[in-house]
Amino acid sequence: MEKTSTEAENPLRQGLRLERTPEPSTILIFGASGDLTRRKLVPALFRLARQNLLPGGFSILGTGRSRFSHEEFRRRMREAVDEFVSEPVDSNAWEHFSSGIFYTPTDLDDPQSLERLGGLLQEIDQGRGTSGNRLIYFSTPPSLYVPIARMLGSAGLNRSKGWTRVVVEKPFGHDLPSMQELNREILEVFSEEQVYRIDHYLGKETVQNILVLRFSNGIFEPLWNRRYIDHIQITAAESLGVEGRGGYFDQAGTLRDMIQNHLFQIFSLIAMEPPASLEASEVRDEKTKVIRAIRPFSPERVDQFAVRGQYGPGAVNGSPVPGYREEPGVAPESSADTYAAVKLLVDNWRWAGVPFYLRSAKCMPKRVTEVAVQFREAPHLLFEDSQPLEPNVLTLRIQPDEGITLRFGAKLPGQGFKIRTVNMDFRYGTSFGRKLPEAYERLLLDAMLGDSTLFARGDTVELCWRLLTPILEAWQAPAAHFPNYQAGSWGPKESGDFMKREGRRWSRL
Ligand code: BG6
Repeated sequence: MEKTSTEAENPLRQGLRLERTPEPSTILIFGASGDLTRRKLVPALFRLARQNLLPGGFSILGTGRSRFSHEEFRRRMREAVDEFVSEPVDSNAWEHFSSGIFYTPTDLDDPQSLERLGGLLQEIDQGRGTSGNRLIYFSTPPSLYVPIARMLGSAGLNRSKGWTRVVVEKPFGHDLPSMQELNREILEVFSEEQVYRIDHYLGKETVQNILVLRFSNGIFEPLWNRRYIDHIQITAAESLGVEGRGGYFDQAGTLRDMIQNHLFQIFSLIAMEPPASLEASEVRDEKTKVIRAIRPFSPERVDQFAVRGQYGPGAVNGSPVPGYREEPGVAPESSADTYAAVKLLVDNWRWAGVPFYLRSAKCMPKRVTEVAVQFREAPHLLFEDSQPLEPNVLTLRIQPDEGITLRFGAKLPGQGFKIRTVNMDFRYGTSFGRKLPEAYERLLLDAMLGDSTLFARGDTVELCWRLLTPILEAWQAPAAHFPNYQAGSWGPKESGDFMKREGRRWSRL
């Protein structure tokens, strides 16, 4: 194994020494021949390296059932970086980065291959000065999480002379019992402090900005409660369908795939109380507390709190799209929800009586993730206008077109007092003029730094599953009315009717 170059020789580390550089470490990736490694993990690590954010000696050890030599794996990762890093890849930077990439096949049932894995980790420690610091990434199908954790435990790879942390990809369980079982098995081998349950939405700049918007400005927090807010809508609409993941998605559905994790995480940041500090435990305690305050759904009244849908054939952006049931890997009579909307009520002093509507769907006319905070009407209207006044809405645009908009009424120039709704707008693109980092960059770096603030804690994930259990159970019944919306439309009629009954309407996206 070659020796690590000194920092001075390292073309990736010339430039400013940045504060947030973790200690030298190895990331051990299970499922290294998979899509996530290619599309997200290695491109994110390369971008971090290019920004001088990774320590000298940083190494990647890929593993999985496929057999590659180090060279073959490096070549594959180079192709991945060429494809998924938008800026041109500098050959010197790649040479340096790839000298720290290794691969060894692992067969979980073969003790010899585990020994080889352990031996290679030690060699990397010695050769590249990574001192036993290890980030172990579970990027395999979820059915392998427990076998891998057990294997790491029995091979003694759950501890080292440095730090050992595991990053577990979603889905973290399929329902409450499977989540509890998975958690129990992982915690047999690792302590809670070692476990980083990833939710890539928490790595998005705009999601982190929720904390900054709320707690670094004096003007929003006084209004952030039941006295001034009528309701809040959190939407994640995707224009894509299941994109070849029909086999997985048909067992999951949107409620599990998006709402249980990503939308609940956004909800918790929007609704939590101010933490005492940005310490991981403080932030995570507050998030958990507000999730605990969500009123449980009554199993007999699920229809009053949730709507499901599934898309049939249609067209998105002018291109024809087959119905969900025609996707490969999907059962012909599938009842999987590709559209899900849920109403949450939060029983605490801040939010009593303020509904939160969470919705997510595939095959919508466009991709939009946003939080719309709708304020109460002015208590007394002085102006007579033929047009009804629109409510004030603060919209946090999570993606794309990242930014924040405040809608309010303004006087239409001219005689009298005619009012029109106008927007006050902040756009990341124009204000900061730089590309936002990818979520995985932030999260991988945080995990290496031992900062778990932006990762989901076991008790929080458990609470989310527990809350959704009555809906998941009710939705096990076949949906005779599916498909109930056209691909490329804004969802099923039932969803609009649901909001009408609430005396509200879905925000226009
Ligand atoms: C994943 C879901 O967690 O998030 C996918 O499994 C979904 O179904 C994706 O498409 C959306 O992520 P993003 O970052 O594109 O909004």
